[in-house]
Amino acid sequence: MTVSIANYKTRIMRPNHKIFSNNTLIARFLGDKLAMMSAGKEKINIALSGGNTPKAIFELWSIEYADKINWTNINLFWGDERCVPPTDAESNYGMTAKALIANIIIPKDNIFRVKGELEPHLASQIYGEEINSRLPKNEGVPAFDIVFLGMGDDGHTVSIFPHEMNLWNSQNICEVATHPISGQKRVTITGEIINNAHEAIFLVTGANKASVVQEIFDQKGSFEEYPSSKVKSKNTLWLLDEAVAQLL
Ligand code: 6PG
Repeated sequence: MTVSIANYKTRIMRPNHKIFSNNTLIARFLGDKLAMMSAGKEKINIALSGGNTPKAIFELWSIEYADKINWTNINLFWGDERCVPPTDAESNYGMTAKALIANIIIPKDNIFRVKGELEPHLASQIYGEEINSRLPKNEGVPAFDIVFLGMGDDGHTVSIFPHEMNLWNSQNICEVATHPISGQKRVTITGEIINNAHEAIFLVTGANKASVVQEIFDQKGSFEEYPSSKVKSKNTLWLLDEAVAQLL
């Protein structure tokens, strides 16, 4: 897409992205990536995303990658968590425990969940301290190897919603966010942590998000209001299905 500005044509550089015909192919692409990354000597630190999209990916990894990925070499964190107990149906950790952790061999010391059962600000402080003490630093900022991200149909990512865009620029590692509709409290990592990751990988599917993806990719409409548009890590990659990519 080219945009004419003062008789100069500038091409909007769309984010790096891959389009897949279904979630299974996305899961296999990522499974192969983690298998390769976990085969080294160094442990890798990854932050998982929550919500519904990753559940099917985790379930496929349980079936096809339980032995292909060296889970002993992977530390699991989460990009955000709902402030509920781990057994609650809303818990991102709880969803991951059922869909993945229960089906693979991973030391419990490799799992760093947000303690959603605690008072939100205390949970945020504890989790931020955990990230700060466990992760290597890049220019003083904790650096994940990969942050997996979802995107809501309002353009939110992790638990930074458009009505709380100020959280993106927080100097804290974690903040307490509020879901705009339910009022549910959540703990989320902030923009500096996401953009300091070596890789930020979006997993976005479904026709209901197609217009937001198009706005972000073509930098038009309300794109600047979407927290997802602020993700600019060293290596940002969007993994899309055909339904969400239909307007690109
Ligand atoms: C969460 C997620 C959130 C999610 C998006 C997309 O805790 O809900 O971290 O950012 O990734 O809302 O969710 P779906 O995959 O359910 O559409």
